[in-house]
Amino acid sequence: MIKSRIAEILRSSQPDETLTVQSWVRTKRELKGFAFLEVNDGSCLANLQIVINQDLPDYENILKQINTGASVEIEGVLVASQGKGQRVELQAKIVKVYGDADPEKYPLQKKRHSFEFLRNIAHLRSRTNSFGAVFRVRNACANAIHQFFQQRGFMWVHTPILTASDCEGAGELFNVTSLNLKDVPRTEDKEIDYSQDFFGKPTYLTVSGQLEAEIMAMAFSNVYTFGPTFRAENSNTSRHLAEFWMVEPEMAFCDLEGDMDLAEEFLKHIFKYVMETCREDMEFFNLRIDKTVIETAENIINNQFERLTYTDAVKLLEKADVKFDYPVSWGADLQSEHERYLAEQLFKKPVIVTDYPAQIKAFYMRLSDDEKTVRAMDILAPKIGEIIGGSQREERLDVLERRVLAQGMNPEDLWWYLDLRRYGSVPHAGFGLGFERLVQFMTGMGNIRDVIPFPRTPQSAEF
Ligand code: 4AD
Ligand code: MG
Repeated sequence: MIKSRIAEILRSSQPDETLTVQSWVRTKRELKGFAFLEVNDGSCLANLQIVINQDLPDYENILKQINTGASVEIEGVLVASQGKGQRVELQAKIVKVYGDADPEKYPLQKKRHSFEFLRNIAHLRSRTNSFGAVFRVRNACANAIHQFFQQRGFMWVHTPILTASDCEGAGELFNVTSLNLKDVPRTEDKEIDYSQDFFGKPTYLTVSGQLEAEIMAMAFSNVYTFGPTFRAENSNTSRHLAEFWMVEPEMAFCDLEGDMDLAEEFLKHIFKYVMETCREDMEFFNLRIDKTVIETAENIINNQFERLTYTDAVKLLEKADVKFDYPVSWGADLQSEHERYLAEQLFKKPVIVTDYPAQIKAFYMRLSDDEKTVRAMDILAPKIGEIIGGSQREERLDVLERRVLAQGMNPEDLWWYLDLRRYGSVPHAGFGLGFERLVQFMTGMGNIRDVIPFPRTPQSAEF
């Protein structure tokens, strides 16, 4: 038995080949004397057409079991298709039904379902055209990311998910504990006694692997992380998840310019790779989800990103003839409406904003000579807003200690991070790419919950 994936068959198999496909039924059409099935195995957007003649043993009974959603194994001979829309079809010789699907109950009937509805059946939605395309493109993005870094000699390092530090200092931490919450041990002054907890101190799910990536960059020069990240920010938006994936390269002997150059080259590489390997899925998005997806991809690949300082960005925003919900002024963080105005309306391409005010950015960013700004950069994408956040890191021990204290953190908790500045410190830089925001940008999907198979958001951890 030669088992074949449908993508492979549609790409290169020839008439007269005998082969077997294992797949799920999308539709069944019964005509006089025969039936057509459309089946899909997830390997590509297109279905394979199957023809079953009534001379197949037990024809009536088998057809009764084959409904939308059923799983089938079909052995047959490939023939040139008479019909429109496909080059070849499979003439069935042996049909085996693995599992039927009750047509009265199977939730995915042949009609357009809303993404909201499909989110409630996330265990089945991957069998639809849209989610099939999204998750194939997601996979291709992941592949492109590893390819990009591995080709350039970056080492993939695995940073911990359980951690005792708040890298971003934003307090958006999920606590991790093995204490009995019904009977929490207390110290004499009624505080929670973490010395009795699993790790002997408060621990959390990581918000970023950056601090550990910096450790590894101080030994391997160029490294990257790619893993899950957690933020307990209660933002119910189409751009935020409580659990998301982040890619964080970190480079020793690198400044902010080098960091921006890498980030731009990186995004271009991913778009190029996906356009080359997922053409059919990208055309599907362009047709069904967002008519600008392919144009956007080509724009990313072929044009330079805009680069400007935060100070200049604020000036442009103050001059803009649009009404923002949040006022703009030097010192305040940019809101997503500001970010989108810059990328979507003003420059119509990704914009790299640099040199943000120190007080709105994390402690580890390198302080500039003006003592007011840090060498930070955010890449803002049309429709998405911030897709990448990065910086040159503070490599000077004394300045870093000052910044840690200024942000109300305890230098003792970060002794190992400060040690990196004591022994062989070098200028270094890195950034974090929000992987789901990238997939959103790539596919044009409006809601971040629809580009990760099992989204985690406030009040929602089903599946
Ligand atoms: O800007 P952020 O917070 O940067 C960091 O975590 C740095 N440690 C990165 C670094 O320099 N190594 O997060 C980086 C990116 C954001 O630009 C955004 O794309 C994404 O992570 N992100 C989220 N994506 C989905 N849901 C959320 N709640 C996100 N928070 C951040
Ligand atoms: Mg950020």
